[in-house]
This record gives sequence, C-alpha cells and structure tokens, in this order.
Amino acid sequence: MRTNHNTVLLCAITFMSLGLGVAAAQNGGTSSGYPEPKNDFTQQERRGKGLYRRYCIGCHGPRGDGNGENAPYIDPKPRDFTLATFKCRSTPTGTLPTDSDLINTLKRGLEASNMPSWLPLSDQNREDLVAYIKTFSSRWKKEGPGKPLQVTPEPEVTADRIKEGQQLFQKMECWKCHGTEGRGDGPSAPTLTDSKDRPIPPYDFTEGHRFKCGQTDEDLYKIFMTGLDGTPMPSFADNLNPEQAWDLVFYLRTLQPMHTKEKDIAKQLGLKPIEPNAPATPPANK
Ligand code: HEC
Ligand code: HEC
Repeated sequence: MRTNHNTVLLCAITFMSLGLGVAAAQNGGTSSGYPEPKNDFTQQERRGKGLYRRYCIGCHGPRGDGNGENAPYIDPKPRDFTLATFKCRSTPTGTLPTDSDLINTLKRGLEASNMPSWLPLSDQNREDLVAYIKTFSSRWKKEGPGKPLQVTPEPEVTADRIKEGQQLFQKMECWKCHGTEGRGDGPSAPTLTDSKDRPIPPYDFTEGHRFKCGQTDEDLYKIFMTGLDGTPMPSFADNLNPEQAWDLVFYLRTLQPMHTKEKDIAKQLGLKPIEPNAPATPPANK
C-alpha cells in the first residue's frame, strides 16, 4: 500500500519534472538543436527576438544566417544577417545601413522576392525587430552606420537631361549588365553572381514598376549612388555628380513599362536605344 502510494507519487514527480524540462528547453531555445549565442539581450532585443521567432525565423533561420526551413525553396535566398550586408541603404557602399533604412525595408518588403511587407506590424514592433537582427553580427558593435547620402532636390526634367542621361547609361556601362534597352540582357548578365556565388540576374527595367529599394525618383537616385551591397550592382558615387545622377534617373524612367513624363519626352525626341560601345570586334577570318 505504502510502496504503491510512493511509486505513484514518484511517477507524478518524474512526470512533472520531465514536463518542466521540456518547457525549459523550449524557452532556452535549445529545442531547435542550436545553442543560444548569448543571453545579454536588452529588453528591446528580447522583444524583437519574440517577434523574430514568430514572423521571420522560417526564412532567415534561428541563427539569422538565412537558412530557415523555407530557404531551400526560395530564390533569391533570405538575407544572412551574420554578414551585416544589406542591399537597400542610404549610406555609402561597404557601410552599415541606418535603422530607418532597415525599418523602411520592413515596411516595403523586397520587390521580386519572397520578403513580404511588414506594414501591418506596429512601429514599435519594427524597431524591436531591427534591434534584434543587429545582434546577429558583431559589426554593429564595432562600427556605426555610414553617413547617409545627401540627395539634392530633384530638378525639372528636360529633353537635354534625358539625352545626357542616356549617354551616361552608355558611358558608365550600365548596359553591359542591364542591356542596351534595359531588359536585363547585357553581355555580362549570364556571368553575374552575388557574394555567395549564386547567379543573380540584373534588373529588367522594361518589366519593373518598382525597385527592391523603393519606387520614387529619390529611391532610384540612391540605388545607383550607393549600390546594392552583396550583389554585382556597384555604387557610382565616385563617378557621377548630383546633376548627372538626376539625368540618369530621368533616362531610366523612359525604359520602364508604365507611363511617365520622361517617356513622352523621349518619344517626341525620337530617342533611339543606345549602341553598345563594346570594343571593336576583330575582323572575321575569311
Ligand atoms: C517568406 C520568407 C521571408 C520572411 C518570412 C522574412 N523574410 Fe526577410 N528576406 C527574405 C528574402 C528572400 C530576402 C532577400 C531578398 C533579396 O535579396 O532580394 C530578405 C531580406 C531581408 C532583409 C535585407 C534587406 C536588404 O536591404 O538587404 C531584411 C532586413 C529582412 N529580410 C528582415 C526580415 C524580418 C525582420 C522579417 C520578419 C519580420 C523577415 N525578414 C521575414 C525572405 C523573408
Ligand atoms: C556589373 C553589372 C552591373 C552594372 C555595370 C550595373 N548594374 Fe544595376 N544591377 C545589377 C544587378 C545584378 C542588379 C540586381 C540586384 C538584385 O537583384 O539584388 C541590378 C539592379 C539595379 C537596379 C534595381 C535595384 C532595385 O532596388 O531593385 C537599378 C535601378 C540599377 N541596377 C541601375 C543601374 C545603373 C543606372 C547602372 C549604371 C550607372 C547599373 N545599374 C550598372 C548589375 C549591374
């Protein structure tokens, strides 16, 4: 009788502690098989972690390295936050983005990828998430964000500016990747890879209404003046002055599928697509 009672009691205790053990493992994050990197999170980072586990982990992974369980089925691949390399920045190439760059990305999502818009979350939620994803790389502890690029006010679009922009598209060799008509089919296109050696196609202007990094003229200006880090899309900040950058923005607007005032002007001008300024091909052997 006594023994029986004790056994029952022991069983109950064992069962309970087992249950507690499982719960503890889940809270400690070890149930995923990954050790917790660190536990010295601020309150904000801890809140961000909770949100991350709910909304982001399936793609960006428990370790933030982009290897979430959905990653194998996604192209382009989710960002690896351990590298702290970001496409959409207001800051110079090679530098870290500002918090508002990252928050804007969360609001917008990334066009032509599986990265959704997180507009339904609150501002506080987005700030917490940004604080948490910054814990995946020690770069954020060592260096601050780069100095944001100052965008000069947008000038009036003119025919001369569009013609000038077209010449820059040729001279800067945008066409080598993006193609002479902006279709993403330039001679270098098939050879391009990102920083993880994965093939990456250049943007096709004739199909794109939006860009990954925004859709306004100012966003477009920033894209080629800061570059898309981690991809072959370079920064032209050292090659273009602000006037030239605006000329190029206006020309790029003539290539897109939607109706733009730039397109109307180009039509009036009878603007022809550029000729590739490739090195002269050697005469064929006859
Ligand atoms: C369904 C998959 C998916 C989910 C869920 C997801 N992402 Fe992404 N995310 C991606 C992909 C794919 C990319 C890379 C897109 C690209 O390179 O064009 C990306 C890129 C990013 C970037 C990099 C932007 C840049 O400028 O390079 C950030 C920041 C980001 N995600 C944050 C988040 C946060 C925070 C969450 C959760 C609230 C989240 N993502 C949820 C798929 C996802
Ligand atoms: C070496 C090849 C290369 C050259 C040269 C190049 N680009 Fe790109 N560009 C790319 C690739 C690759 C992408 C796509 C990146 C991605 O999908 O993440 C891209 C994307 C873009 C985008 C879309 C970005 C977005 O947010 O979606 C714009 C706009 C752009 N390039 C403009 C230009 C302009 C203007 C020039 C010349 C001044 C230029 N590119 C020169 C390779 C190149």
